[in-house]
Amino acid sequence: MKTEVITTMIYMVFLVHFAITISPNTQPSWLFSLVSLSLAVVAVTLPFVVTTTLHAHRNAGATATIPGPRGWPLVGSLPAVSGPLMHRRLATLADAHGARRLMSLTLGATPVVISSHPDTAREILSGAAFVDRPPKGVARELMFCRAIGFAPAGEYWRRLRRIAGTGMLSPHRMAALGGLRCRIADDMVRRVADQMERSGEVAMRALLQRASLESMAGSVLGLKGVVVSEELGEMGLAARVRGYFGKIIEERRVVGDYHERDDLLSYMLSLPEEERLEDSDVIAVLWEMIFRGVDVVAILLEWAMARMSLHSDIQSKAQEEMDAAVGRLRPITDSDVPSLRFLQWILKETLRMHPPGPLSPGRAWRCRTRGWASTWCRRGRRPW
Ligand code: HEM
Repeated sequence: MKTEVITTMIYMVFLVHFAITISPNTQPSWLFSLVSLSLAVVAVTLPFVVTTTLHAHRNAGATATIPGPRGWPLVGSLPAVSGPLMHRRLATLADAHGARRLMSLTLGATPVVISSHPDTAREILSGAAFVDRPPKGVARELMFCRAIGFAPAGEYWRRLRRIAGTGMLSPHRMAALGGLRCRIADDMVRRVADQMERSGEVAMRALLQRASLESMAGSVLGLKGVVVSEELGEMGLAARVRGYFGKIIEERRVVGDYHERDDLLSYMLSLPEEERLEDSDVIAVLWEMIFRGVDVVAILLEWAMARMSLHSDIQSKAQEEMDAAVGRLRPITDSDVPSLRFLQWILKETLRMHPPGPLSPGRAWRCRTRGWASTWCRRGRRPW
């Protein structure tokens, strides 16, 4: 029998029973009320139980079953995985079920597959099956539907990737923004020295957030300065985002000096007519870059510093490497990075232990099943 039919029947029984119970001529006994309540609970939970059972039966007939926890009615495996460090809870669960390549579970009513293995993670991230990236409510609210991370796979998404690649991440653009990064780093070193002199301690988190925000505001919007950083840091609502970015776009159009600038906004505005994006799409991309780019970098650097302060031997080795490759008479530049191998390893190890986004944004398969790839790699496991 179909789930919907069973549900409807239960609801009808429940409604008739409820109507009798609340009828003005009836004095409901406590037993009667208890039966009503029980029927209500059954009416709500039964569809989920039946759906889960049918799902399990269908899976049993399939050629391969993905291992994973059975979960509870209504909530699925949410209680087991929600809370801080969800990626670690998922990894423990995958180990417990021998499901490292792929684990199947339900979160609420949504079926999910989780990959903690390079091969299956690659299939989810770059294969054709999980190509859809349905935006969550909050993403819709923040206008991310038309930005790179949530744009539907296809020509528009590829166009955005091309624009970001050429307008911001190409070697030419990266080199052109080297001066900006140097200025921000110098400023940060000065602030550290100031704070040490004044109070003998430094609040690194605030300094790193500010530096990361300035770096993104410079590379994405071509803006400088603390006032801008603070304004961006305080933004939240979509209307304010639209208003703020819209004003910057208008001002840039009035000045029209796109070709003398190296930021993403100027590149987007200088595109030929046939490749140009609508203003609302430009805003979505700019906002996404700032939103995604600021915290991840600040968090990564904060973890790297925290780890180094706990391991002074590693810190000394990194300092020795820098002294040998750069010396203490000039600042580090981008061209020094290839000779700073140990420093690169520190950052990679920090990314392995504390990935700023440990679960890649969910991809959808056949509109329903979500696929997540865990970017957290445990020691001794093959990285990707
Ligand atoms: C430590 C630094 C960073 C880490 C660990 C990181 C991590 C990630 C991860 C795991 C994804 C999801 C990939 C996928 O599902 O396919 C992603 C996507 C993305 N990130 Fe980052 N990210 C970092 C820095 C940045 C920065 C600085 C920016 C902006 C300038 C940025 C912009 C984006 C965008 C636009 C996407 C969506 C790409 C797409 O869907 O095609 N990220 N990032």
